[in-house]
Amino acid sequence: MGYRAKFEVWRGDHTGEGELQPFDVEVMEGEVVLDIVHRLQATQAGDLAVRWNCKAGKCGSCSAEINGRPRLMCMTRMSTFDADETVTITPLRTFPVIRDLVTDVDFNYVKAREIPSFAPPEDLAPGEYRMDQLDVERPQEFRKCIECFLCQNTCHAVRDHEENKTEFAGPRYLMRIAELDMHPLDVRNRKEEAQEDHGLGYCNITKCCTEVCPEHIKITDNALIPMKERVVDRKYDPLVWLGKKIFKR
Ligand code: SF4
Ligand code: F3S
Ligand code: FES
Repeated sequence: MGYRAKFEVWRGDHTGEGELQPFDVEVMEGEVVLDIVHRLQATQAGDLAVRWNCKAGKCGSCSAEINGRPRLMCMTRMSTFDADETVTITPLRTFPVIRDLVTDVDFNYVKAREIPSFAPPEDLAPGEYRMDQLDVERPQEFRKCIECFLCQNTCHAVRDHEENKTEFAGPRYLMRIAELDMHPLDVRNRKEEAQEDHGLGYCNITKCCTEVCPEHIKITDNALIPMKERVVDRKYDPLVWLGKKIFKR
């Protein structure tokens, strides 16, 4: 059974100027928020800007804030809301708006480029190393990431603090560093880099990133907290301490 729903959609541009525009739209059974945005484009707002690709929760393009909560529009069922509820759709708050619901997520690509790639020992020949099954399985969870940037958008360390953006890589990229650090063949000092160059210390484990992840990756428990523990272990490792003393002389 269809019904008509009230929507408020943010319309604006890169100047930061804009407003919530009200719409009255038909909703059909089984639809998701992205269906409604498409209906709006087809019937009432042909120039409404929105980014999407797969409509299957896998490309990570359709991230927005729905009633203030960061979500994928294609994975948010209209049945989540009461029929008489006004549904508000706004762009991701942490990134600059290009137009309407489309934001400039370049921050994330900059952070991705700042992380040095996997670094095995130079003299390691193919076939010389066998990995434990545990080491193979542990990072699989992290590779489910669809780069929707909902976690990056949600973490208060950048959401409420624009000034932290240069120093803080955000949960998605700290998770990438943790993944590399857990790799038994990686030879870089990822612990020090995470702390000194990528702002691991800005994370105070509020777990908001984990809450919004559409892939249900346990970002905080399985990547960020273990990474913090590894940093602390290294810092207070008596051999590392002694080595630093000797080589500083
Ligand atoms: Fe999106 Fe989750 Fe990847 Fe963050 S970790 S970018 S929330 S899929
Ligand atoms: Fe931010 Fe997630 Fe840490 S929300 S504070 S990166 S646990
Ligand atoms: Fe691909 Fe929503 S359109 S995740």
